[in-house]
Amino acid sequence: MESTGQNPAAAAQTTAKAEGAPLNWNKWIRQIHRWVAIAFTVTVIANFVALARGRGMPPPWVTYSPLLPLALLLVTGLYLFVLPYVTKWRSGRRTA
Ligand code: HEM
Repeated sequence: MESTGQNPAAAAQTTAKAEGAPLNWNKWIRQIHRWVAIAFTVTVIANFVALARGRGMPPPWVTYSPLLPLALLLVTGLYLFVLPYVTKWRSGRRTA
């Protein structure tokens, strides 16, 4: 999970402190990404189950149900992706 080689919780706290932010946004975005990933996986499995039952095409709400969680994953995932770069950029500017 520590693919960036840094402690995300510590990095998040450092950022939050530096910003004077009372809420730890980075931590919450990561939690949202984690739990929405599970919801997304459930909707994809539901699609396969509906298809495997072989009673024609599943209803459209089943077919399209992964799209909302996927959109949330994209937004929160992009946030998580740029986070280390933004943190680095900010700390670089501050000490400069
Ligand atoms: C749609 C575009 C997505 C983007 C841009 C994205 C991006 C990311 C990034 C940057 C991280 C943080 C990696 C790290 O530095 O630790 C992450 C974590 C993760 N992603 Fe995604 N992701 C996407 C979709 C998904 C999907 C479809 C799933 C699973 C169904 C998923 C499951 C996870 C999980 C479980 C984590 C670990 C979260 C944690 O720390 O607990 N993501 N993702």
